Amino acid sequence: MTTGSSIPLQTELGQRLRAALPNLEVRDSQEFRAENSRDHTEDLQFLPDAVALPKSTEEVSALLQWAHAEQVPVTAAGAWTGLSGGALPVRGGISLSTRRLNRIVNIDELHHQLVVQPGVIVQEMQEAVQEKGLFYAVDPASRGTCTIGGNLAENSGGPRAVKYGVTKDWVLNLEVVMADGTVIRTGANTLKNSTGYNLTQLMVGSEGTLGIITEATLKLLPWPRFNALLLVPFADPADACRAVAGLFHDGNQPSAVEFMERAAIELAMDFTGDRQLPLTSDTAAHLLIEVDGFREEDLMPQLERIANSLERFNAGEPLMAMDAAGKDQLWNLRRKVGEAVKAHSTYKEEDTVVPRGHLPELLSAVKRIGAVYGFDSICYGHAGDGNLHVNILKGGVDDDTWAQALPNAIREMFEEVVSLGGTISGEHGIGWVQKPYMDVRFSPAELALQRRIKDAFDPVHILNPDKILPEGAADSGETA
Ligand code: LAC
Ligand code: ZN
Repeated sequence: MTTGSSIPLQTELGQRLRAALPNLEVRDSQEFRAENSRDHTEDLQFLPDAVALPKSTEEVSALLQWAHAEQVPVTAAGAWTGLSGGALPVRGGISLSTRRLNRIVNIDELHHQLVVQPGVIVQEMQEAVQEKGLFYAVDPASRGTCTIGGNLAENSGGPRAVKYGVTKDWVLNLEVVMADGTVIRTGANTLKNSTGYNLTQLMVGSEGTLGIITEATLKLLPWPRFNALLLVPFADPADACRAVAGLFHDGNQPSAVEFMERAAIELAMDFTGDRQLPLTSDTAAHLLIEVDGFREEDLMPQLERIANSLERFNAGEPLMAMDAAGKDQLWNLRRKVGEAVKAHSTYKEEDTVVPRGHLPELLSAVKRIGAVYGFDSICYGHAGDGNLHVNILKGGVDDDTWAQALPNAIREMFEEVVSLGGTISGEHGIGWVQKPYMDVRFSPAELALQRRIKDAFDPVHILNPDKILPEGAADSGETA
């Protein structure tokens, strides 16, 4: 990064890129590079040397062909809402912004399919298909700003995953620009496909390290336009966690089961200024449960069955929301928890996931390990999926302890997660910040296989270098 009084107006890389590809939009002012240097992961910042804003697959292809020949890193970025640093250009080079690739190419009403470019905002896409009576179910907390390209790169989830699955479950086919500029298709626009290796699913969740997705064909459903919410208080968070598997065991099929510790909802109330929710003094946690359906009269029987199931887990009096204002209020509080915690304290977010029956053990392990190391935490997340976001707070912990002890605490927590049959990221990806812990989940042989996949797709390691895979002896592309 250049500092001091001699900040050049253009970067050297920007000038080379403009000379080589005169039609490509390239921005390299200090200000623009700074705007494209942070996501939502802690307070990390990495400046790209230049930002490229291609408008077509052809421009992405030409850009990669050039970068490949010149061995310049290229890191794709959407709306910068990522939570593992996947879009951060940690080795500088080019930040490839997808914001000009933002067209909904086709809504195929006959086949219930949607073709989109990566820069489309997820909520806009959802609303466009809803106008046709169709439904794109994946619904991350940041849906109002995040892009489908980012969702594909990280295999995003969100609250509705418990009924409808995560991003990968809705992808039929991708157009991908490979590291050397070659354009490929990974699948077919068909509901079934048993034709060769499943490159579509390999690309989803690969965080821009294997290729740049320039178009996606997604599956849609008929839109279940009615839904209702229950906010259920618990005096003991362990009961709330136990209730989750109980609900499913009893045959319920909610469209969301979210867990929030009391502190999570309190911080969200402070952050949004919405203090209307009644919080009894003995409430330590909530479950926020959604049901959906095609007819309004389908909702109440589902809610009653769920309330019955919850009784045996010592649930308190539930608050029901059937009208739009009440539901928006509850969802808004839930969606704002992440931002609210970030605004409250320096923190480190973990995205643990276990088979949902093990949630009580996961929560108690998080609290036990936190107590040993002196870290407070706020836990919330997609309990129906066993996906607990653990926000470890810095609070009054001194900088040295934070820097030195935190990785050990996280490692211990992840070891516990894996021993419960879980894994270290459910939906935020590995990116930059979880990379040091990949060995907790994978053996050396498993990591080596993943490195060989990276090498096959990107032999000179220009695509989002230094992400996902930790450095190691077998890492052919970079030095440790
Ligand atoms: C959420 C984001 C942090 O669930 O994944 O709010
Ligand atoms: Zn989440």
